[in-house]
Amino acid sequence: MNSFPRVDPIPLPAPVWLFKLLHIVTLALHFTAMEILLGALLVAVLLNLLARSGSGQTAATGMARRLPIVMTYVINLGVPPLLFAQVLYGRALYTSSVLIGIWWISVIPALMLVYWLLYRFAAGLERGRSVWWMGLIAWLITGTIARVYTSNMTLMLRPEVWQTMYSASALGRWLPSGDPTVLPRFLFVMATGFMAAGVWMVYLSSRRSFSPADRCYFSRVGGWIAAGGSALQLIAGIAVYRAQPAIVQTGLHDHVLYRIAGWGWLTLTVVILLSAAAAALLQPVAALTSWTAAALGFVSIALETVYRDGIRDVTLLSKGFDVWQRTVVTNWSVVVLFLVLFVAGLGVVGWLISVMARAQRVMESAI
Ligand code: HEM
Repeated sequence: MNSFPRVDPIPLPAPVWLFKLLHIVTLALHFTAMEILLGALLVAVLLNLLARSGSGQTAATGMARRLPIVMTYVINLGVPPLLFAQVLYGRALYTSSVLIGIWWISVIPALMLVYWLLYRFAAGLERGRSVWWMGLIAWLITGTIARVYTSNMTLMLRPEVWQTMYSASALGRWLPSGDPTVLPRFLFVMATGFMAAGVWMVYLSSRRSFSPADRCYFSRVGGWIAAGGSALQLIAGIAVYRAQPAIVQTGLHDHVLYRIAGWGWLTLTVVILLSAAAAALLQPVAALTSWTAAALGFVSIALETVYRDGIRDVTLLSKGFDVWQRTVVTNWSVVVLFLVLFVAGLGVVGWLISVMARAQRVMESAI
């Protein structure tokens, strides 16, 4: 018997492939910001706690100052993929969200608390104080939010446990248990955080606002963190694959897109590991190298986003939910209007970032 709620009789207003494309692009951007936040926050905490040199504290302050901005991207770039995911997978995603209702709704106050703590952490560091504990609390809450997201995105794939969970608590008091895929998936998110934080530090090492000694510190420490994070990612990524049921492994292997994404990610992760180690040894890196590092980091996260999408589609298909089986009545005028506004919106965001970057340079040269 198919355990998913019945499909909405209203047809989709655009092709499934377009929703999936937009979902993956925007989700890869959300993941990039989220992984930088998760990784760089912990690195800043550790540097504030342990760094003996002035450069260590400068690096902690330089990153902490930028984290509230990163947080705005985490949230704003999370909204579009959430909308696309609800359109495509609403029958599964709404159900799992209700089943962990209390946890799911708690994400909102938790986000506000993290935001506030990030500002306090950055302000404390700017004044040269030891405020690692504030950053640590923010990191623990951020990690808990990540855990809630992983629980929801895996519970939506398990209709067989929904009835039991609803009987246990209609308010959604419990996170699901007994799914062997959750822990490796969560550990993979955490490992990616280190890769992203390290690559971000290598990127920051080309900033002229830091002294030559601080820039060397950024690329040396960032390079080692990115190399270590990539190695952990490789271990966690293999664990994620091995935790999938045989039918999902076969489905992923048989699908050309997921095969390319999987092998592409594996190869790129090895490339990032080696080049991050080279950046650590050959510091400071040139501006072009730091931009290349940032681009490689993003492509790696985009490839893992495609593969993750494959895990969901293959798992759901094995349980009778085919995301491609929807009635589509495309409203092209609305689709074109949406795409024009989407591209214009991206342009405006790019322009805002360039204005901020220029303003920061002017402020720094005035000091
Ligand atoms: C500090 C805040 C946040 C953290 C740490 C975080 C973390 C995560 C993690 C770990 C996942 C992947 C779960 C998995 O597949 O195993 C995820 C997915 C996702 N997050 Fe976030 N997130 C945050 C905030 C948000 C916000 C505010 C939104 C939206 C308003 C959002 C939207 C999404 C969406 C749409 C997905 C993927 C849904 C899908 O499976 O298609 N996130 N997030």
